[in-house]
Amino acid sequence: MDYEIKDISLAGEGKLKIEWAGGRMPVLRLIRERFQKEKPLKGLKVGACLHVTSETANLMITLKEGGASVYLCASNPLSTQDDVAASLVKDYEIPVFAIKGEDRDSYYQHIQKVLDSGLQYTMDDGADLVSTLHSSRRELLPNIIGGSEETTTGIIRLRAMEKDGKLPYPLISVNDANTKYLFDNRYGTGQSTIDGILRATNKLLAGSNFVVCGYGWCGRGIATRAKGLGARVTVTEVSPLKALEAIMDGFEVKTLVEACPTADIIVTATGDLHVVREEHFIKLKDGAILSNSGHFNVEIDIDTLEKISNGKRRIRGFIDEYILEGGKKIYLLAEGRLVNLACAEGHPSEVMDMSFANQALSCEYIKDNAKTLKNKVYNVPTVIDEEIARLKLESMNTSIDVLTPEQKKYLASWDMGT
Ligand code: ADE
Repeated sequence: MDYEIKDISLAGEGKLKIEWAGGRMPVLRLIRERFQKEKPLKGLKVGACLHVTSETANLMITLKEGGASVYLCASNPLSTQDDVAASLVKDYEIPVFAIKGEDRDSYYQHIQKVLDSGLQYTMDDGADLVSTLHSSRRELLPNIIGGSEETTTGIIRLRAMEKDGKLPYPLISVNDANTKYLFDNRYGTGQSTIDGILRATNKLLAGSNFVVCGYGWCGRGIATRAKGLGARVTVTEVSPLKALEAIMDGFEVKTLVEACPTADIIVTATGDLHVVREEHFIKLKDGAILSNSGHFNVEIDIDTLEKISNGKRRIRGFIDEYILEGGKKIYLLAEGRLVNLACAEGHPSEVMDMSFANQALSCEYIKDNAKTLKNKVYNVPTVIDEEIARLKLESMNTSIDVLTPEQKKYLASWDMGT
């Protein structure tokens, strides 16, 4: 079996991590048990470009139990858990091409390795697999029946391809399922971003000035959790609506230029380019910490930071210290890459349970319906989304009320007023 990982001898530790995560993913476990019996993915070759974590491992194992052959590469050069990658290869015979800290060339070579498998389905987190296929491996397209996308940034890229008439096959937006974005983006990113910052810096958040750029679902999760730890949280936005929401949720809203002089920590979660740039670097106070929780390392203009700095050194595991004019020091976490996955372990298993249940069931859905689907971005079917919510509640031993026939009738009527 072909694979490229850091060190196969790490498999023992990785296997324990995979089992620990699996124990906190009850919905995925139920799917896995059904897949074991029914083999709904029999014969399907799945190429996955996802963060190589213990939760992703459980998804890969589920797909394999369902009869698929799976090939996995990383969706970010810094997010791979090398011990998990080793265990997937050694204990589960799943080919993995990912090494934490790989350079850009190896990152893309690993994507090419997954494409070499002759895949029929793409499972992406950020759309690098689809875009590489489209730009450099078009000969593989006739073989592909469909795919799915995990994250907001990937969906933005796919919708742009769809708009240009370039979407090569049907894709499901796992990101837009209610059981994904309302939990993974909000509570997952909220907790794991704080976790990454704390593991990297060991800083006290209570009393700190904490700035969150972007008040989408990820930004609001981060802001809420930072506030919970006692930080004074400021939000920056470009959307008047989201800015209003942030104010009414109890946060200060400012422009980033206004927020910089007092900011202790800045986190970007916008999905856009150069959100923190030269006009901000020069306004920051000595000791300010910059980090990013968006998918790509483009939100902080690192090239300019490098250019205007007189010196740079690695001061802790994932912290680079930049020395600016006059000796001012600015700290950048994880080279501007996803702080939650580079400095911590990504979202907790409990939320990835629902995200990856959506992935597994979307894969089954596309296999069953490929012939009737068009080259469009589809939402996860509502029945799947609702079933995942129902199973998750069940796993939490929580029952909910049901509408009485009288209530149902009332909700379907228009003639009953005061
Ligand atoms: N994205 C964010 N957190 C993740 C995790 N734990 N595993 C896989 N992908 C993720």
